Amino acid sequence: MDTDAYLPPAVCNLIERQPSAHSLLREFYSDEEIYRLDLERVWRKGWLFAGHSCEIPASGDYFSLEVDKDSLIVVRGDDGQAHALHNVCRHRGSLICEDACGHLKKLVCPYHRWTYTLDGSLFHAPGMQEDLDKSKLGLKSVAIREVQGLIFVCLAESPLDFNPAGDVLSDFARPQGFTRSKVAKAVDYLVKANWKLVWENNRECFHCNANHPQYIKANFDHYNADDTSPRIREQIAAVVSQSEARWAAAGLAVTHKQTGMTSFPDAERNIWYSANRTALVDGYVSETMDGQQVAPLMGDYKDAEVGTVRMRTLPNFWNHSSCDHGVSTRLLPAGPQLTAIRVWWLVDANAVEGRDYDLSKLLPFWQLTSEQDWVICERQQRGVNSSAYTPGPYSTYKEYNVDAFVRWYLKQLQKP
Ligand code: FES
Ligand SMILES: [Fe+2]
Repeated sequence: MDTDAYLPPAVCNLIERQPSAHSLLREFYSDEEIYRLDLERVWRKGWLFAGHSCEIPASGDYFSLEVDKDSLIVVRGDDGQAHALHNVCRHRGSLICEDACGHLKKLVCPYHRWTYTLDGSLFHAPGMQEDLDKSKLGLKSVAIREVQGLIFVCLAESPLDFNPAGDVLSDFARPQGFTRSKVAKAVDYLVKANWKLVWENNRECFHCNANHPQYIKANFDHYNADDTSPRIREQIAAVVSQSEARWAAAGLAVTHKQTGMTSFPDAERNIWYSANRTALVDGYVSETMDGQQVAPLMGDYKDAEVGTVRMRTLPNFWNHSSCDHGVSTRLLPAGPQLTAIRVWWLVDANAVEGRDYDLSKLLPFWQLTSEQDWVICERQQRGVNSSAYTPGPYSTYKEYNVDAFVRWYLKQLQKP
């Protein structure tokens, strides 16, 4: 492909200078020009996780999300379908909804009260001439897909085919029961790091031993080919064979049976979605501080021993789910060195706080682990900004997914 035809010369030069199997050159993590390209070539093209169906169960329920400067509203229509609309009035451009979420019968612009139905059609334009063609002045909509309780939107005019991702995600989200869940808690973070640093951190567990004392007690993916001892190998083999039989009886597949993280993404084939179910350490049935169940079983689960489900989609979503709760993480770009992150904890829709679950037991495992990661990312951003920073080499044992992420990213940049 003729990269030069689509990219500014300075960016072509950076891509040419980028050493393979090394962290990115500083500019990729810090510059405004690269950030604008990221928005255009990654964020405006890809499918973005927006939120959960259970956040907008009834017609008129909505939430908003900001993708850099674009404000979107995701609203449940009178037809029961979720619609994704630009939150920009077609009269003179005012934002319509300022609240992060709520319930509306119609979307009414606060400026001059143009009124839109829940699918974005212009319903009423008070004070305007009678021959105004309302049919041409509906709110601009964006593509939306709802898959087993998870909502994705895409800003592109011709979105990528969502179906292959939808099939993979629904195989794992269905038994987890996100369509029958509720949000127990959501926490927002504004992390002072480029979104790619956040992903790179997510794509390796090299840092886990030194940074995640809670996480490593529950999981095996911080071991790799270089440090999986025969004893650890035996432990994994034991939990996997034990789990396989139980899960097969429940119709659940074990899809990741080794130490180390499952391979993702696949830069060569542009695989931007994946999901797997993997075993937890013996004695852990949930990703909680002591490994014990802290809420009623979710979805189709009849047994607490279902391991952990992992789902992820580039550029902005991952979810870790246990038998009793799911944790979703959404990234949104907020600047060259700023990422808006929301973490949600989901439980069964009928679970009652104080009776069936307690936030003090539900939250800490992923709240601590997430916040440990945000500190790491901010610290790395500060180091990368230093004049002394130069790209460093990736470990082939432990950073294969970081390398794959970086290659995936560079490929997206070079696509027109
Ligand atoms: S800008 Fe919305 S009604 Fe005027
Ligand atoms: Fe981490």
